[in-house]
Amino acid sequence: MCGIVGYVGAQQAAPILVEGLTRLEHRGYDSAGVAVLAGSGSTTAIKVAKRAGRVRDLAEALPKRFAGRVGVGHTRWATHGPANDVNAHPHTDAPAHHARVAVVHNGIIDNAAALRHRLTEAGVELASDTDTEVLAHLVARSSADTLEGKVSEALAAIEGTYGIAVVHTDFPDRIVAARNGSPLIIGVGEREMFVASDLAAIVRHTTTVAHLDDGEIASLTATGFTTYRQDLTSTAKTATVLDVDPASYDAGEHESFMRKEMLEQPAAAERVLRGRLDERFGTAHLGGLNMEPREIRAIRRVKILGCGSAYYVGQMGAGLVEELARIPADAEAASEFRYRNPIIEPDTLYVAVSQSGETIDTLLAVQEIRRKGGRVIGLVNVVGSAIARECDGGIYLHAGPEVAVASTKALTNMFLGFALLALQLGRVRDLSIADGRRLIAGLSRLPGQIEEVLAQEDALAALAGRLAEAESLFFVGRVRGYPVAREGAQKFKEISYRHAEAYQTSELKHGPLALICEAVPTVAIVPDDELADRNVAALHEIAARRGPLVVVTHDGVVLGDLDASGGVERVVVPRNERELDPILLTVPLQLLAYHAARRLGHDIDKPRNLAKSVTVE
Ligand code: AGP
Repeated sequence: MCGIVGYVGAQQAAPILVEGLTRLEHRGYDSAGVAVLAGSGSTTAIKVAKRAGRVRDLAEALPKRFAGRVGVGHTRWATHGPANDVNAHPHTDAPAHHARVAVVHNGIIDNAAALRHRLTEAGVELASDTDTEVLAHLVARSSADTLEGKVSEALAAIEGTYGIAVVHTDFPDRIVAARNGSPLIIGVGEREMFVASDLAAIVRHTTTVAHLDDGEIASLTATGFTTYRQDLTSTAKTATVLDVDPASYDAGEHESFMRKEMLEQPAAAERVLRGRLDERFGTAHLGGLNMEPREIRAIRRVKILGCGSAYYVGQMGAGLVEELARIPADAEAASEFRYRNPIIEPDTLYVAVSQSGETIDTLLAVQEIRRKGGRVIGLVNVVGSAIARECDGGIYLHAGPEVAVASTKALTNMFLGFALLALQLGRVRDLSIADGRRLIAGLSRLPGQIEEVLAQEDALAALAGRLAEAESLFFVGRVRGYPVAREGAQKFKEISYRHAEAYQTSELKHGPLALICEAVPTVAIVPDDELADRNVAALHEIAARRGPLVVVTHDGVVLGDLDASGGVERVVVPRNERELDPILLTVPLQLLAYHAARRLGHDIDKPRNLAKSVTVE
């Protein structure tokens, strides 16, 4: 999705903006641009450079004379109008040399068509196809005598979602920013201030930040910032120092962020477990849940909401909650939830799961539940993000910054977060102390076992090379293995662009078996559990139709004459407690997807058409 960065201070803005935009590339975009306030006093003018394509194309095209100490930059993900130079942000109220206002905007203005019509009727010539351009005109036409007032007045006319940053030649010392549904943070430096849609854009300059809330406006000058409600009454927000290492936003010696983040999984897993396991009582301690045992005992149902991979890991989490806490649980795509007018039950615990904490569909689901009086907790990675702040309590995932679009370490920590939650709920209810201790021992072994799976990278890379040749693949599993198959297929299609479809193994013969042939491999999840024999029987049906098979399994699972036939590849993962199998079965699928994409020569961290956090509906 679109990215925003803004700078006001003593340095030249353009290099800071361009570097910030480079750090936002993982969000997904198709054009980029920057605007600076050049000159001073009454001679202040706006300079704009923008173009379709990559940030590096923009950097190469920047005019030599592009000086200015206040500016805004943007990476655009096309919504209104195609990706071209004109539609790229910033948008201005007039051609650049006459412009007084420049605006960058994330989100969607729902009443843009009506506003465009109104402006055109009033004689305004609109240059672009975008919704954003109307904002530049509304700010320019406002009669308020401060930039904050002009922005506030303009925002009053629009419906929709936004994160915006605005500069104006009449107010050359400041940027005014505002948020409604699209994340924005303010960064505080030494006599310089930043605004960005993502910490990644500014983390090398500062880790002292304030998160804007929906409905807030912020005014930034070199010496400080002030926050307001839309009616310009103060919200007096202050900044806090985040505990993050700026270096963790760099790929370092790794060829991609995805590879770095996969390899970080053992350490990330240790972090999410640290201090939360109680061997004595065989339970987990999750202080952030804010729930008394009495309230936990009153839970009759658990409903998990997330999108994409977070939804699939939510399905794994529902399995854990049912198995360990014996509470009926299910997961649902947050993007669908609020559109079916869901019944919100007082004795249901709702759980929102999100790496970014900014996924709009998940955020809106949380707001729908809370509006109807339900209790929601969050499993979120990004501290201080919108979903984390919106929930009644929660579990931070401590995976560290995840930059690659394809989520790996955050998903692993989501699974572990669910395991901790299920353990704590279970121990307040009917899980025995012996079972609690058994699971604690299993959880403690997991980081080392993830390391063992990662050590199989060479063999998995060779296998991935063969899978990459297929245009279409199946990923199949049952019960605990089914969400693993869904996540495996998701990862594979996201970065290899191959058609990868997940199915319950048991459902194959009800339809998809018709597609199985030599050209369509199947990756089958076959843990050594109570369903192993039935799984193997289904594999015979695939082999009988000459379908190539990759079986992700445990040592000791007997594949019978499939092994002898030679057409079957085995990937063996370490054994743990059965309830914890899903995560160890998932890690090799990440490596398969990664190496298939690499073999196909794709840009792994920036897959086509995808964005790291999806902040528009
Ligand atoms: C994961 O590989 C995907 N990029 C995507 O499905 C992601 O999990 C989804 O968009 C949810 O993101 P979130 O965890 O930030 O809410």
